[in-house]
Formats: sequence, structure tokens, C-alpha cells
Amino acid sequence: MRALVTGGAGFVGSHMVRTLLEQGHHVVVLDDLSTGHADAVDARATFVNGDVGRTAEVASLLREERVEAVFHFAAKIRVEESVVDPRLYFQGNLVATLAFLEAVVDARLPLIFSSTAAVYGVPDEVPIDEEHPKRPVNPYGDTKLAVERALEAYGRAYELPWCALRYFNAAGADAEAGLGERHEPESHLIPIVLDAALGRRPSVSVFGTDWPTSDGSCVRDYIHVLDLAEAHLAALEHLRRGGKSGAFNLGTGRGHTVLEVIAAAERVSGRRIPVVSADRRAGDPAELVAKVERAEKAFGWRARRTSLDDIVRDAWAWKLRDGRQS
Ligand code: UFG
Repeated sequence: MRALVTGGAGFVGSHMVRTLLEQGHHVVVLDDLSTGHADAVDARATFVNGDVGRTAEVASLLREERVEAVFHFAAKIRVEESVVDPRLYFQGNLVATLAFLEAVVDARLPLIFSSTAAVYGVPDEVPIDEEHPKRPVNPYGDTKLAVERALEAYGRAYELPWCALRYFNAAGADAEAGLGERHEPESHLIPIVLDAALGRRPSVSVFGTDWPTSDGSCVRDYIHVLDLAEAHLAALEHLRRGGKSGAFNLGTGRGHTVLEVIAAAERVSGRRIPVVSADRRAGDPAELVAKVERAEKAFGWRARRTSLDDIVRDAWAWKLRDGRQS
């Protein structure tokens, strides 16, 4: 298969590129490197430095590269930034994606879209199934939901086969392949905790210790990035078999508190991690855990790397390696 991966220089996208290549597929990466890293793009892929919002350029790329399937990862992903600078998100995630879809729809290619648990907002109950009301509480979630709505309508009207995959908390790494999580500035829990273990930060602030959870800190469903990549392939195969388009949660179905993540990082690294209690972070739900049966029923996917220690161990292996490089 010949696949286009937008955002292939980013965290999840770069793991997708590698998974595709390992399975013998031909991969074209389209990324503007605004947040991604050129060195994360596997040398076996064809790399194009460009903007997904330029319809004509995307259309010629699809044609010239004879692309058969599209994985659309390129997006801005920082919730807090989306509140402070929403234009970046409505332009970068929504307007640019609609322009991108112009080319994809015309080429009638199956599309796998990176969505997020942020489309649910603060859930009424956990685990969350795909029919749960969608009430995003920040512009990031708004833009992802808006694209999902466009996909629903385009799918019906233009026979576009699509899957929107709603990631819970992407984590882990493929350290052996030289791939891992690097955001600048870093805002995600596991890299922050591991930086503290390495002494690159003095401590970890736990945002809220009075949530109605087992230990008072927030619960999240951490999913290994390699499980995410496998889910994308399974979703695409489902579409290519003529399976129904739609949205699917990608999580493990199990939640862990922030303090449990820190304890796992201490076990894995063998280092003590200083913790400071901080105020709740605006917009954080107490608990986000996926119901995962829909993806399993539709395309036989279930997360395999579900041990929190293993997920953190892979992220730690990457941090040690990344630390040597920097
Ligand atoms: N946290 C801390 N201290 C930190 C950083 C995070 O206590 O220094 C806590 C957060 O409050 C949260 C948990 O750790 O409870 C995880 O936080 P992340 O920032 O790593 O991830 P989020 O759950 O906020 O966000 C993730 C994705 C977003 C997505 C969101 C909802 O990163 O892209 O889930 O799906 F929008």
C-alpha cells in the first residue's frame, strides 16, 4: 500500500510511519515541522516539508505518489495553548484540515483521522463510550469535534470512507527505533515526570490532590503509542474491507492516577521523584477512561501493551537515549 502520513514528524505520526514501513508499505510524510522533528522521520519514507492546508499541492502529491490511503495526524495538540491562542487551532486544525479534505475527497481515498477524548469534555460517567455526549471544554476539542462532524457529512454525501480515532492519553515510545515523545515546551505528564527523575526539573506539580478519585489525583487512560499505530492500520483495513465509517475510542479501558504514574516512574527509573501539590488545572476532568469495545468489535483491535510500568519503561528508555543525544 502507498500511504500518506501527515504529521509524520510528530510523536504519534512518527510511530505510525515506522509501523507502516515495517509492514512493507510505501510511506509519504507531509509535515511542516512547526512542532514535529525532522530527525523523527524514518529515512525510508519520502519526506515533504509542506502545509496540509494547501489543497492544490496536496492534490498533486496524492496523484504523483499514487497514494491509496491517508493518515491525518498533523495538528496542534496543546489544550492550554488552544485557550490562549484559539486562532492557531481553528486555523491549523479546522480550516487547514477542511482544505486538506478537499483533495482527499476528490481522490476518494480512505482517511484515518486523529481525534481525541477531548471531544467528550467533562464526562457524565466513565468509562466513556462513543455515544457519550460531545461537549468539548476547550478550542482544541472544539476543532477536533468540528472535523469529525465534517467527516460524518462528507462521508455520507461524497462516499468518503473515514475513521476518527479518539485517543485517550498517548504515551510510551519505540526507543529502539529512536522514537519518543518530545514537546516544546513539555506539557504532558509522563515526559515531565521522567524529566524530574533525570533531575532536569526540580519536581513534578500534581494538579489537584482533592479530586474524587482513589488518591485525590486525576485518572487518565494511558495508551502505548505502538498500540495506537496498530489501531490505525486495523481501522484502515476495516475501511478497505468495506467496513462502516465512524468514530472509535482508543484506550486501554483502565485508568491510572497521576500519583500512580509517578510511583511507576520511580519503580522503573529507580530514582526518587520530588512531588509538589498544586492547584487543579483549568479544564481538567477528574477521570477519563475509554470504553474500548467498539474498536474491538469493528476491527479486532485491543491494546496489548497495557501495563503502566511497561509504558513508562519504554518512555524512560527513550528519555535516556534522548538525553544522550541532547
Ligand atoms: N498533570 C499533572 N502535572 C503536570 C502535568 C500533568 O498533574 O505537570 C496531570 C494533568 O492534570 C492530568 C494528567 O496529569 O490529570 C495528564 O495530563 P497531560 O497533560 O499529560 O494529558 P491530558 O489528560 O491533559 O491531555 C491528554 C492529551 C490531550 C487531550 C486530552 C483529552 O494530551 O491532547 O488528553 O483527551 F486533549
